[in-house]
Amino acid sequence: MDALNNILNRSSHRDLVSPIPSPEEMKKVFEAALRAPDHARLKPSRFIEVKENGLKKLSDIFTTFAKEVLTIDDIKIMEKYAGAPFRAPMIIVIISKHKEHPKVPELEQQLSTAAAAQNILLSLNALGYGAIWRTGKFALDKRINHYMGLETDELILGYLYIGTADGKKREVPVVDPEEYLQQWS
Ligand SMILES: Cc1cc2nc3c(=O)[nH]c(=O)nc-3n(C[C@H](O)[C@H](O)[C@H](O)COP(=O)(O)O)c2cc1C
Repeated sequence: MDALNNILNRSSHRDLVSPIPSPEEMKKVFEAALRAPDHARLKPSRFIEVKENGLKKLSDIFTTFAKEVLTIDDIKIMEKYAGAPFRAPMIIVIISKHKEHPKVPELEQQLSTAAAAQNILLSLNALGYGAIWRTGKFALDKRINHYMGLETDELILGYLYIGTADGKKREVPVVDPEEYLQQWS
């Protein structure tokens, strides 16, 4: 697949099943992630690869956090949170670690990590796998750091749910760039 078509035809998938990418494929995917633009090469992006028993660990963290911090006691909501990590056979937790730098504010570092996440989505698409970026109650909230074993200068930007797309590929919407574009010449 050529690079431009890979970008134009990527779409997110909600129904994800095995197989997942091999360790060799994931090594390439993470190499691609770490080629995201990165002011001063601070390397703010970190990842946790979650699969197999790790999905249960994540599920336990979600429910403990929901109970202790979000003070949720509705059984249906708790069941939804407990089941969330099992919506895919692999999850990559996308983390941005803020490094103090006189010229690179935290937002720029988070933008770099967002670019790394997109590199992951594109690499997976190129390799024939499906994925979707999700946030929800367990991302963009530093109160979960303690439960995830993260430090206070880190922020979860999202969870990439990964696997093989089950069923038909979602239509890629047709977009007219003219609507979003001004040209100054
Ligand atoms: C930062 C970010 C957070 C997102 N969070 C969610 C989410 O929690 N749940 C969800 O269904 N989609 C979420 N999405 C949207 C999907 O990842 C996906 O982009 C969207 O469904 C459009 O599909 P497409 O990527 O095929 O265009 C998020 C996207 C981004 C960039």
